[in-house]
Amino acid sequence: MSTGHVELARAQQERWQTEYARHPHLHGTQPSAAARWAAEAFGAAGIDDVLELGAGQGRDALFLAQQGFSVHATDFSESALDQLRLDAQREGLDDRVTAALHDVRDPLPPADATVNAVFANILLNMAFSRAELRSLVGEIHRVLRPGGLFVYAVWSADDPCSGHWRELADGLSEHDGFAGRFFDDALIDELADRWRLDDTTSYAEGPRRMRRVALAKPNPAS
Ligand SMILES: C[S@@+](CC[C@H](N)C(=O)[O-])C[C@H]1O[C@@H](n2cnc3c(N)ncnc32)[C@H](O)[C@@H]1O
Repeated sequence: MSTGHVELARAQQERWQTEYARHPHLHGTQPSAAARWAAEAFGAAGIDDVLELGAGQGRDALFLAQQGFSVHATDFSESALDQLRLDAQREGLDDRVTAALHDVRDPLPPADATVNAVFANILLNMAFSRAELRSLVGEIHRVLRPGGLFVYAVWSADDPCSGHWRELADGLSEHDGFAGRFFDDALIDELADRWRLDDTTSYAEGPRRMRRVALAKPNPAS
């Protein structure tokens, strides 16, 4: 895609590759708070398969598989996915977890209206331009079936670090080599255009203030 920060994105991809190669469980092995919540929401909706974007080394993919979901996990770091596959095999979950390299700035592989649920923890707040974010959320809308669910969690604009990181262009900021964006209500609402906005809870996770957002693709038949 030509709408984003190509050099920044390439540098970020290298950075993630390096960090994941150094640390087999960079984000730990416990599931995120958002994954725990999403498992309840997807289960209550009768959903049993999930597409996870920006899955990293798979702490949430493995958790969702342990909860009985079939998970297709993607990330743009091959070294993260290698670890995810290894752990899935070790835990006997490889029949329920598949993994594939994918950069979410490219169109999503699934055909229109074929996916039941999409999950993304701490992905949308990475180094994407606003145009890339709109395009990604549009792609998720395209691949979801009517009534399908999209749950994502991002850094909140309420986080104490927001405003202290080095400012980059387009609302992005940088700290210690990682670029990201802190989400406010205006951006959450902008991305919820064409969706039913079911949840925008604020919560704390480790040192971070987070926002969890649940979107449903409207089903004209209901
Ligand atoms: C903060 S980590 C979160 C990983 C995982 N969701 C978790 O909670 O453990 C952000 C992840 O997004 C991935 N990522 C960043 N930009 C991406 C892109 N353009 N396409 C796919 N994955 C990307 C990184 O490789 C990294 O694994």
